[in-house]
Parts: sequence; structure tokens; C-alpha cells
Amino acid sequence: MYSGTPNESSRAAEKAWTVPALAQAKRDGRKLVMLTCYDAGFARTMEDVGIDLVLVGDSLGMVMQGHDSTIPVTTADVAYHTACVARGLDKTLLIADLPFGADATPERALDASIRLLQAGAAMVKLEGAAHKLEVIRFLVDREIPVCAHLGLTPQSVLRLGGYKVQGRDEVAARRLREDARAVQDAGATLLVLECVPTPVAASITADLDIPTIGIGAGPQCDGQVLVLHDLLGVNSGHRRPRFVKDFLAEGGSVAGAFAAYAKAVRDGSFPDAEHSYA
Ligand code: KIV
Repeated sequence: MYSGTPNESSRAAEKAWTVPALAQAKRDGRKLVMLTCYDAGFARTMEDVGIDLVLVGDSLGMVMQGHDSTIPVTTADVAYHTACVARGLDKTLLIADLPFGADATPERALDASIRLLQAGAAMVKLEGAAHKLEVIRFLVDREIPVCAHLGLTPQSVLRLGGYKVQGRDEVAARRLREDARAVQDAGATLLVLECVPTPVAASITADLDIPTIGIGAGPQCDGQVLVLHDLLGVNSGHRRPRFVKDFLAEGGSVAGAFAAYAKAVRDGSFPDAEHSYA
């Protein structure tokens, strides 16, 4: 169980995360620990226990606002929560989601990204490849670091007809591998893989120079992310996917849950087969 007192002196000695440090972490074989976050208090607690990356996800529409999907979330919503989270962070790298439609064109994505960076984010995340490759190139050319997101992309829920594992057959797996290469080539510096079979995520991770962050993508990704409410066992009114684990039970407190999650990601015990897709 987490003792509850972060070691202030060792924490103070740690450097702030930077965007180039992410690729270095991959080269060093250092696992990246990421959580979603929506306010300053949780952000501070995450930083105290050494969470590396914090994401203001558009999942806020489902876990904070009570919607059935992320589609209703606006740039103003994400900017508001990004500013709240940024006030709780000093060293942790802050990523903010471009919500549905905000990245429909390069120009719209640029406007939204500027708002999110001015609210305190160091990087924006966007879903998909295809026409989004042009958006990624446009943003990166204008000094905006980009995290890509492939596999299950929740903003595609209407087209997909639900939240389903992606890349299960060979054609879909090949497409995912090609898209992963393409987002890296377009300039993305991080890639979230959501609900992807373990072997597919493992081969993408081995193929890329940029780190992969898995959520339901098996243990061989370069890092992991979970939604805060899922990690704490909060009932957000949605079906709990297979990859979710409640760390509050073993951590004993909120800080303890974060610490237990970070330890399990770093020692490779999470996600195990029970929390992954074969
Ligand atoms: O919106 C979100 O929280 C996300 C994570 C699930 C990766 O995109």
C-alpha cells in the first residue's frame, strides 16, 4: 500500500518532462505512465506520485459531463479543464484532446490547438489517420506537438456502431500498421493505441521510433493510459471495458491507487492477459 507521503526531495530533483524526452524514454526502455485528468487537485496528486503524462481527454464528456459519447465536447470544454489541470502541474507533460470536429480542417485544428496550448497543454491529441495526416503535418509545421490516436477512436462511434476492438483481422491489422507509420511520418511524437489486439500493438510498437501508449492494447506498448474514473472504480454510467482495472482497492487511497498503477505499468504487470485482447 502507498505510504501517502511523496518523497519531496527526490521529486524536486526530477526534471520536467519535455516533448523530445518522450522518444528518449523509448530508446532507454523506460515505460511511460499516463492518466487522464480534469482538475487541479487530481493533477497535483498525480504529479506527487510521479505520473509522467497527463491527458485532458475528451472522455470528460462521458465521465464529467454525463454524455453517452465524446461527440458533444467542445474546444471550450477541453480548454477549461486544461487550464484547471495545468494549475496543478509543474513537471508532468500535459496533453489535451482536440474534440470532435475541432480537427476537421488544418485551419480549425490550428485555432483549437492554439487555445489548448495557451491554456497550458504541451501537446494536442487527435484521432485517426487518412485526412488527419495533413492536419498533423500542418500543426507540426507550426510548432504544435501532436499525439496521434489509432485503433478504437471514440469520436468515430457513430460510423463504427459502438466501441469495439479494432485490427482483429489481417486486413484491418495491416491498415493499422500502415496508419501508425503514416502518423509518425507526418510528425506525430506520440501514439495512443486503443482496443487493439496485443500482437498488433506489439508489432506497431516495435516498428516505430515514437512511443506508443496503450489502452486495451496489451503490455508491450511503450506506456499505458487509463481514464481516471475507471482507475478509481467510479461509476460513470458506462459499460466497463475489459482493459479497465480498479486500482483503488489495492492502493488504499487516491494517491495509493495512482502509485499502484504506476508501479504495475513500470514493472510490466499491468496490463496482464485478463486486461488485454488476444
Ligand atoms: O479521451 C480520452 O480520455 C482518451 C483516452 C482514453 C486515451 O482519448
